[in-house]
Amino acid sequence: MNETFRWWQRGIIYQIYPRSFMDRNGDGIGDLPGIISKLGYLQWLGIDAIWISPIFPSPMADFGYDVADYTDIHPLFGTLADFERLVAEAHRRQLTVILDYVPNHTSDQHPWFSESRSSRDNPKRHWYIWRDAAPGGGPPNNWISVFGGSAWEWDAATRQYYYHAYLKEQPDLNWRHPAVQTAMLDVLRFWLDRGVDGFRIDALRQLIKDDRFRDNPPNPAYRADQGPYHTLLPLYTTDRPEVLDMVARMRHLVDQYDARLLIGELYLPIDRLVTYYGVGGSGVHLPFNFHLILVPWQARQIAALIETYEAALPAEAWPNWVLGNHDQHRLTSRVGLAQARVAAMLLLTLRGTPTLYYGDEIGMRDVAIPPELVQDPWEKNVPGLGLGRDPERTPMQWDSRPNASFTTGIPWLPLAADYPVVNVAVQHDDPTSMLTLYRRLIELRREAPALAVGSYAPIEASGDLLAYIRSHADQRWLVALNLGPQPQRFDARRVEIQGRIVLSTHLDRAGEVVRQTITLRGDEGIIITLG
Ligand code: NOJ
Repeated sequence: MNETFRWWQRGIIYQIYPRSFMDRNGDGIGDLPGIISKLGYLQWLGIDAIWISPIFPSPMADFGYDVADYTDIHPLFGTLADFERLVAEAHRRQLTVILDYVPNHTSDQHPWFSESRSSRDNPKRHWYIWRDAAPGGGPPNNWISVFGGSAWEWDAATRQYYYHAYLKEQPDLNWRHPAVQTAMLDVLRFWLDRGVDGFRIDALRQLIKDDRFRDNPPNPAYRADQGPYHTLLPLYTTDRPEVLDMVARMRHLVDQYDARLLIGELYLPIDRLVTYYGVGGSGVHLPFNFHLILVPWQARQIAALIETYEAALPAEAWPNWVLGNHDQHRLTSRVGLAQARVAAMLLLTLRGTPTLYYGDEIGMRDVAIPPELVQDPWEKNVPGLGLGRDPERTPMQWDSRPNASFTTGIPWLPLAADYPVVNVAVQHDDPTSMLTLYRRLIELRREAPALAVGSYAPIEASGDLLAYIRSHADQRWLVALNLGPQPQRFDARRVEIQGRIVLSTHLDRAGEVVRQTITLRGDEGIIITLG
């Protein structure tokens, strides 16, 4: 394959939610030795990089996204020595390792915050965002926490409020303070020096807040089912122009190392999202593109999305696509099992780096969590709206044995009831399973440079059909997807189509010769090699 492409352009990223992947010490929570024990599986699956959600010491108010020490490993997950072994073992298998970097906020148990809150004249006071009460009393302004309620917490001892974009246990760092920038860049350096290949930067759009602390305006399009955070437009709390200056500093540091990657978690409209590539390579390499998760699952809407995204990309920018993560309901629950196959084919044949979420490769679904077992603070704060994220974080389903062999203890979240039939072992050698489909798609993407790094050209299609050609050198591949349940005839009027089916989402049509007109079954996608 053309060597001018970087590993993260050619490759596929697989997200591991470490609490739920594999538990080796029987405490019901996944750990690093568990991940190490499954590297063989990941290599067999064919992915290139693992991104691991936070594994640092943390009181776990937000399951690791409340970091109490950025440069160590939580004993629940193992030790620094385990982590070093994980990196070495992964690299031995040609897998790269991406860590979660949580710069926007620390835990309220982080020593920096303990110092900061200890007195108004502590040297670390301004490492966080402290404000006086409003003139008549109460919070300084109307800013709301993502997880519900005011984003300001009163500190009785020092008689000021501190700002927290998420839980009150997650105070926001003040990135306008040079010492915070230095300390947080040192965190990146610490892990880069230990061979980490990249970072997924958490909550990047929140990093800098308005320096005048202006009220956010009301959201005219608010719907009650979105939860309280959406009552306001986060104009003064997110996507501030200065965020890019901070990203430039991170990028400058990372560029001093060889071939490392920065990914930004950015829930933003496309025109804003693409600004995070930065000018002249000063932004993140990949601003996570979540629009396939957010768009209604209809062919015309998806076609328009791809077109808008491709058109918005700055020169030199490399695209990327995501179908699931630990904050979003499972793909299979959103679009159904049949369309989840079509979605997999879409994700793995689009131009741009794909990110998979653990368990999607076997069609794991959201698991309904009984109220007494709810873990996620968001569900506890804003119950009943379906905002809770436990359903998509349940343990990986490895086989049909007790607890799917995820743990010998009591799992921290319940397993899906259907794990005895939906699991890796059952699907491993089944020629038509979801897992086999993923494996074939990944294999094809690895074998065919056109599918990984080739150009993208849409083909005119109507109704539930979506079609495009990927080309590289003299290779041309046609992808035709039926996003509806009814059979469809695809007639590429303006393009000459002659070729052979290499893969169907049903895994039963390889070798079939096609000429101009193709009939797709309901919920079927096919990949055709042309010429
Ligand atoms: C985004 C993370 O993905 C989510 O899980 C977390 O709760 C928030 N950021 C806060 O860190």
